[in-house]
Amino acid sequence: MPYTGIGYAPSIAKSIWVYPTIERVLKLCGVKSGKKVVVYTDTNRNKDISDMFFGAAVNLGADVIEIVTTPRFGSFTDESRNPPKLALEVMKKSDLVIDLPTNHWAYTASHDEVLDAGAYMLLSEADEELIVRLASTEETIRRTENGAEMLTRAKNVRIVSEAGTDLTLSVKGRTCIAETGIVGGSKKFDVFPASLIEIPPIEDSAKGILVIAPGDPIVEFNKLVDEPIKCTVKDGRIVTIEGGRDATMFKQWYAQWDDPNVYVTAHIGFGTHHNADLLSGQAMDWESLYGGINIAFGANKSLGGNNLAKGHMDIIIRNADFYADDEILVKAGKLVHKALK
Ligand SMILES: [Fe+2]
Repeated sequence: MPYTGIGYAPSIAKSIWVYPTIERVLKLCGVKSGKKVVVYTDTNRNKDISDMFFGAAVNLGADVIEIVTTPRFGSFTDESRNPPKLALEVMKKSDLVIDLPTNHWAYTASHDEVLDAGAYMLLSEADEELIVRLASTEETIRRTENGAEMLTRAKNVRIVSEAGTDLTLSVKGRTCIAETGIVGGSKKFDVFPASLIEIPPIEDSAKGILVIAPGDPIVEFNKLVDEPIKCTVKDGRIVTIEGGRDATMFKQWYAQWDDPNVYVTAHIGFGTHHNADLLSGQAMDWESLYGGINIAFGANKSLGGNNLAKGHMDIIIRNADFYADDEILVKAGKLVHKALK
C-alpha cells in the first residue's frame, strides 16, 4: 500500500508552543530509542496535550502507545477511581507511563502495583501555560534537590508562623522527595510540572497547632481561605478544628470520608519555584510556591509513608518559618538557607 498521509492527524498546531518544553522534559526522563512508553489519558482531558507527549516520545525514538478511557471518579480506595484493568496490565509492562488523567489515582493501590512492576510514572494535570511557566530549570532542580537532601538528613521539622502555627514532626529515617517533574534513577514517580520537596513524616509524630491563615491555599477547596482555620494536632493527626465558615467546610471535607486515616499527616515540605503564582488558582502553582510550606493529610503510600486513606488534602502555609533540626531553611515564606538560593 502506498503511503497516503490519511489517518492519524493530531491537532497539535494550537499547542505547538508547548512542544519544546515537553520534549526537553521527556528527554530528561530518559525517553529514547528502545523505551516502551504508554500515554494514558481520558476523554475529558485536552487532546492537544496528550498529542504533544505522544509526539515528543515518538520523536525521541520511543515505542509509544496511547490509551484513552473515560474519566474516573471516587475515593482512592474505590475501584471506580482506578484505570481499567486492561490499561493497568499494559502500563505494568512499560518503561514509562505518561499519566494524563482528569482525576489522578496516585494514592491508590493500583498506582503502587504499576510502580512495583517496574514502570516509571509521570503524572500531569496541567494546562499549556502552566507546563511552560513551571517546568523545572537547572536552578530550580538544584534548589529542590538540595532541599530534599537536607530534609532526608534531618530528624525533626518545625513550622512556626505569626498567624499561630507551631508544629513539630519527626522525619527520622524517611526519604525526602525532590519533586522536579522529572523521573529517573531511584525516583520512579513524579508530577509534571512541579517544584517542591516533600517528606512523609513518621505517622504518629506531629504535634502542635496549625493555623491556616486568610490567603493560604487549600488545594482540595480550590480556594484561598477567607478566615483562619485552627487545627490542633496530636499523635500525628488533627484532633480539633476551630474557626468560621472555612473551618466548617474543612470539618465537612474530613468527615465525608468516614475514615480516621484522612486526619493523619501525609507529607511536609515547601515549594521551590520562583515562577509559581499564588493567584493562578492552580494546584501545582500553589504547591510549588517559592517558600510556601506544604502540609498534607491523608494517603501517602506513594510518597514512602504508611498511610492508606480515602482522601488526601494539601494545604499551603505562607509567611511561615521552616526548621530542619536547628537549621532554618525558610523564614517568613522566603528560602533563606544558602543551599536553596
Ligand atoms: Fe499532597
